Amino acid sequence: MIEGDFVEMDHASVSNIIQLGGTVLKTARSEEFFHSEPRAQVARQLNRAGIEGLVAIGGDGTFRGAHDLWTEQKAPVIGVPATIDNDVYGTDATIGFHTAVNVAVEAIDRIRDSATSHDRLFFVEVMGRQAGFIALAVGAAGGAEMILVPELEVNIQEIYDTIMSGVKRGKTSSIIVVAEGDEEGGALEIAHKVRELGPIECRATILGHTQRGGPPTAEDRMLASRLGAAAVRALLEGDSDKMVGRVDNKVVRTPLVDTWSEKKPFDQELYELAKALAA
Ligand code: F6P
Repeated sequence: MIEGDFVEMDHASVSNIIQLGGTVLKTARSEEFFHSEPRAQVARQLNRAGIEGLVAIGGDGTFRGAHDLWTEQKAPVIGVPATIDNDVYGTDATIGFHTAVNVAVEAIDRIRDSATSHDRLFFVEVMGRQAGFIALAVGAAGGAEMILVPELEVNIQEIYDTIMSGVKRGKTSSIIVVAEGDEEGGALEIAHKVRELGPIECRATILGHTQRGGPPTAEDRMLASRLGAAAVRALLEGDSDKMVGRVDNKVVRTPLVDTWSEKKPFDQELYELAKALAA
């Protein structure tokens, strides 16, 4: 946008891509966009190309930039939440979240085969930046014995004690899901610290970018289709500076500022349920 390097797309541009992971549009973080002169340049380029509205697809960084573009330049913008982290207020799910969770759950099912065969404890690290939404969903759906998230403080001694109480009850293998943003560290670090407390045979696996690729789930495909259409509709109605999201199965519009200034609530109930089921 800064360079005015636009490619016109039509119906054919989106044929046969619904099953693809990643993005055909490409994506990158832009340092320049943090400054107002490049944003003014973007507005000039949009004008020159006859572009009347912008659909900003991403997370809070994308939305902050889009909001600045609207407030400074009055370029109409509508946000579409797309990040595996699901850490955006104003939508129950972000595009990519379900797929990432499914990939991680499938990985856990496979790791569990090793865990049970070898009577081992595994720490499995999932992405999510500073949020534990992926870890919670993966842990609950994967039947994890423990879920470690940045939203809730659990220290190494408590982790060790939980593992040992499982062992005393006859558990011979366990899976502990670790959110990458957990305050005790990632899977490797936590495994190391736990081993220092006692002779526990354990392994650590970091799922990393495997969670960000592969065919999107049906849920993600439907969400992306609905929110994409809703974004265009919002622009056609003359709306701007909002994000379209899905809340309680309805498409809603939330002011862009709220999407990063309001905190998406952590599902404590699901966390407690997963804990109870693992006990
Ligand atoms: O925000 C999405 C995300 O995948 C995070 O979960 C992760 O921390 C980060 O991006 C990784 O970013 P990069 O691909 O730049 O290493």
